[in-house]
Amino acid sequence: MNFLVCNTYEEVSQEAAKIFEAQLKAKPDSVLGLATGSTPLGLYRELIRAYQCGGVDFSRVTSINLDEYYPIEPTHEQSYRYFMDTNLFNHININKENTFVPNGKAADPAAESVAYDERVKRLGGIDLQLLGIGENGHIGFNEPSEQLHAGTHVEVLTESTRQANSRFFASLDEVPTHAITMGMTSILTARKIVLLACGKNKHDVVMAMLDDKITTSIPATLLKCHPDMTLLCDNAAFKG
Ligand code: GLP
Repeated sequence: MNFLVCNTYEEVSQEAAKIFEAQLKAKPDSVLGLATGSTPLGLYRELIRAYQCGGVDFSRVTSINLDEYYPIEPTHEQSYRYFMDTNLFNHININKENTFVPNGKAADPAAESVAYDERVKRLGGIDLQLLGIGENGHIGFNEPSEQLHAGTHVEVLTESTRQANSRFFASLDEVPTHAITMGMTSILTARKIVLLACGKNKHDVVMAMLDDKITTSIPATLLKCHPDMTLLCDNAAFKG
């Protein structure tokens, strides 16, 4: 695992943007695995700025997002489809038809999950996967558990995740209880992974990433098995 500590959140965002820009220069038709949450917002702002300056072209990119609440309408302001559109896709020259987020209103979420994995396979896998990390070590919405799923599946959200994410909703009751999330296999088979962890509330999980143990009770620790994984964190997450 490559590990880089930056002084500030802005520097983490800039370093991450450099990795994305290099990826798109090397392979303009990359498949990008994208993530939501507050942490990637700075990176997305950097990428929009780079696009506006003519430094990066998304016209041949395909994106595939990690997860989506279930059930949720794509027009809901807290849906991850809405998040991606408003925070990135609407501001760059990506073809929206080539942007994929699990369908939060699928009538059959199990079938949607199978189809999502098929899509990743048809795309030839993910070239560069961006990840945030939950305070409890979840990746996407793969919650700590004795057993993790390999494939995309419906996940029951833990109370701690619903609490953490309730800051975006009017009340805890409004936070969905379920989500559709990519499983660990699609994530771990990405050719390159960048994990961002910022803020002192991520200190404990960053420490768990840096020790020698791998455990399904902190799903992010499985990423240590990946041959090309970079953890970028800020001083607050590193020092606590
Ligand atoms: C959500 C997402 C994760 C994300 C996590 C952390 O639960 N499903 O993909 O990593 O939030 O979010 P934040 O970056 O806001 O701390």
